[in-house]
Order: sequence, then C-alpha cells, then structure tokens
Amino acid sequence: MAGGSANWWQTGIIYQVYPRSFQDSNHDGVGDLRGIIQRLPYLVELGIDAIWLSPIFKSPMADFGYDIADYTDVDPLFGSLEDLDDLITEAHRYQLKVILDLVPNHTSDQHPWFVESRASRDNPKREWFIWREPAADGKPPNNWLSEFGGSGWEFDSNTNQYYYHTFLSAQPDLNWRNPAVRNAIHEVMRFWLRRGADGFRVDAVWYLIKDDQFRDNPLNPDFCPGGLPRDALIPFYTADLPEVHDAISGMRRVIDEFPNRVLLGEIYLPIERLVAYYGRDLEGVHFPYNFALLTAEWKARSLAGLIDNYEAALPAAGWPNWVLGNHDRPRLASRIGLDQARIAAMLLMTLRGTPTLYYGDEIGMQQVPIMPDQVRDPFEKNVPGIGIGRDGCRPPMQWDGSKSAGFSDVDPWLPVADNYQSENVVTFQEDKRSLYWLYRRLIEFRRKYAALTVGSYKPLVARGNLLLFCRELRDERMLIALNVGPEPISGPFLGSELSGHVLLSSFADREGEKVRGNIDLRGNEGLLVMVNPSDAV
Ligand code: NOJ
Repeated sequence: MAGGSANWWQTGIIYQVYPRSFQDSNHDGVGDLRGIIQRLPYLVELGIDAIWLSPIFKSPMADFGYDIADYTDVDPLFGSLEDLDDLITEAHRYQLKVILDLVPNHTSDQHPWFVESRASRDNPKREWFIWREPAADGKPPNNWLSEFGGSGWEFDSNTNQYYYHTFLSAQPDLNWRNPAVRNAIHEVMRFWLRRGADGFRVDAVWYLIKDDQFRDNPLNPDFCPGGLPRDALIPFYTADLPEVHDAISGMRRVIDEFPNRVLLGEIYLPIERLVAYYGRDLEGVHFPYNFALLTAEWKARSLAGLIDNYEAALPAAGWPNWVLGNHDRPRLASRIGLDQARIAAMLLMTLRGTPTLYYGDEIGMQQVPIMPDQVRDPFEKNVPGIGIGRDGCRPPMQWDGSKSAGFSDVDPWLPVADNYQSENVVTFQEDKRSLYWLYRRLIEFRRKYAALTVGSYKPLVARGNLLLFCRELRDERMLIALNVGPEPISGPFLGSELSGHVLLSSFADREGEKVRGNIDLRGNEGLLVMVNPSDAV
C-alpha cells in the first residue's frame, strides 16, 4: 500500500485507557473523564494517535462498565455527557481520535430494555433477550455455560423462564436475531458517531449469535478438571456462528455512513477463524483484534511462526494489528519480564499493523498482587483461586511518587503498585534510557519512516534467540533485530553485502553506529537498522 492512501487507523497507534484507573479528578478514588482530559497532553507527548476508552456509560458496575444500563449516557462516576463531549473536542484539538467501547452482546440487568423484557412473557421487549422454557426437570434449557463460571442460564421466577447470559447473570444477552435489537444498537452507534466519536471497539462480538435450535454444546475432550469451568465444553453453538458476520456487516454499514470512522472487533479465536471477521469483501470489522502475542511463547521461532501464520492468513487488503496487553490479561512486564518488555516494545512498534498499547505498559507497569479482601473482579469472585483474576492488570496509572501515584489524592479503588515511588511517569521521563523513552523514539520513527507503517514485512531469521525481519517501502529499508534472550548474539546473519546504520538500540546507546555484514546484539537488545538503499536484503 502506498503511504499516502492509508487511513489513520492503519498508520496510527491506539492507546487503551481504562478510565477507572487513569486519572481521578474528583477525589473519589476512581478515574474519570475530566481526569483523562487533564492527561491528554501526556498522551500527545507520547505520540499516540487514538485513545480507546473502556466503557464509561451508565452502569451498575457489576462488570465495571461492561454491563450497560444506558448506552447513550455517561455514568456519573466518570462524569457527564458534557464531559465526554469536552473530552472528544479536546482530543480532536490535539489531533487525537477517540474510540468508544460498544457492548452489543449484552446489557445490564438494570437496562430498561431488560427490565421491560422480564416484566411479562408478552412484553413487547420480551424477544429482545433470549428466553427459554426450563427443561422437563426444571433445570436450565441446555448445557450452555457462562464465560464467567456456572450455567449460562438464569431462572426468572417472575415469568418462570430462563434467560441466557454469556457473562454474568447481571449481563443478559441481547437477541441479535431480532431486527429491532439490531436497529436499536445501530441507533446507539449513530448517537455517538454524531457526537464525534471516531469509532468503536466492539466487545465480545463473536458471541452475538447463538444457535436458534439451542443445541447442547459438545464436551471438550481436552478439558482438565480444575481448569476454567467454561472450557469443559466447546462453544460450538454459542460463539462464532456463521450468521454473526451478517450482524457485523450491519454495524459496519452504520460506521460507513460517517467519514473516517473505524470498527474494531474484540475476538478471541484461532487465527484462521479470526480473519473471517474482516468479512468476505472486507465488509466486516476494519480489523479483528489480534491477541496472538498475549499468550505467545517468548521464543524467536514461536514469535516468527505466529507472525508468519498471521500474515499468511490475512485476506488480501485485510489490515493487520498487534496487541501486547489489555484490561483482561496479565501485564506484559510480568509475563515476559522487564528486560524483554523493551524487546516487545520494539516488536509492537515495528511489526506491520496497527499497534494497540495498554495504559502503563509504556512504563513497564507490572501485575499488582491483590489480597483476597481487595478482589473486585466478578470473574475472580465467581471462579476464585485459579489465577484468572483481572484486578492485577487494572490498578492506577503510576504518574509520580506522590500519594496514590498521582492518580488520586484519596485511596484508589484498587491498590497502587508498591514500586510506584521509583517506577512512574516522572522518573521514566527523567531517564532518557527508560522504557518510556524507548516507546517515544519508536513512535517517532514510526511516524518518520513510512516503511514501518505501510511497508512490507519480510521475515529473515528466527534462530536461537534471534528474531530478524525487514520492513520495506520502495528504497526505505529497515532491519529489526531482536534478541529475545539474555545472552549476546553475534554473527553474519545477512552476508557481507549488507550495510547500514543503527537508528535505535533498545539500550539507547548505539545510534548512528555503522553496520556492515554482521549485527552484534547484547543480551536483551533490540536494534532498528536503516539499510543503505543500494544494498539487497
Ligand atoms: C470483554 C471485556 O474486555 C471484558 O472486560 C468483559 O468482562 C467481557 N467482554 C464482557 O463484556
């Protein structure tokens, strides 16, 4: 693709803000929209292009905003509709896009649609949700499980039927086979698009459609007792059904009514099935989130393998993307260690595809240990003790060394990491060799050299701890050499004909160094090398 014709969501960098934990402005220990507005200059300085806000809509917060009671209003905990308008206006003033979280699979059980739906069997909203008769023995209608533990069915004694919920029982699933539901969500989308939102990250979108015959899900032969309860079954009849693509293309048509907006899908599926979400003629999401790196084995061959598989599976003109962290998965720095977090930064910012950065990963924030009495995550409460808790990756942003890390002047809703006095934005900004500065430089280079955004990707070497690849656009050629281990690597990887110079070392101390034939890497070092235009790679 030529550099000039690319869209902002292709060349740009997305930064996920988890609003509860970014910045508190009203002294209640929970982050809010005014807080985010205060911190926009930080994001501009970092160099990102778009923020994605996890849900800020009216919600009883059973699942911290992923249970929505009013799709078109802001929860008072986060501020007001005017605050959100101001945030969008301010962000746009800084040339930042704002992506909202759309949660179409389910509402809160407090949403007026569901309140009506459960009121009586003949309520006009009854068919907006998924209601079924009990089985003959009064038990749930079939074996479908909730992602968050237990049956997916909740009995409603008022009308003597069960309703289905993919997640918590406080999150009843909307019936996406009902056109009225589709229209209602489309109207929600238009509401925000008209107010200036630049698009949506669509939550749990591969779950939208369930089997209309309500067949039992098959048993998972690979399930090990003691594992995640939902893994006992294969979600054959509850997720990734063929009709889901029609539902998504309906949303995409709404997006396309407005210029320059984007639709991104949250989808956890194997790559071959994931890529179907681009749509047969790219009429699906602009991209389904690619979470392969969240669980990747941090070895050169495995990384190269998953990159190659992904590149090969993408439909022609399907735009790639990469993610290293989010609010549902353990922190990157805790998964692979702080040394390798720098290599991951280089990988994220040099691979072909839109990077999404999770707040705090730019300062290497780590998992925060959560004591049993501090647990807030409903998933952990439902399925305790097997390590799936999500609180540890959601604590307050570490801004500075003051009380509550500069996040709030009162005790925050989740504990601040112990290391906040030494590891925070201020200390990282003062140290030019910090991870923060590595991100800034990488982002600068990504902006400066189109090869890093719209250039081709060419795998070169994946051997031992070395991962080497090339990004190329016309005569702009970059080599990315990553040492994913602690031992030094040196050797003639490329033949003596190669020459160039180092643009960036992950240790920030080799810039300008000439490279000829060999590349020497210290342990845990990554290099970005500009190849002399005449040399072949
Ligand atoms: C995915 C979201 O990322 C997660 O946080 C949430 O609990 C579920 N969807 C349900 O909405």
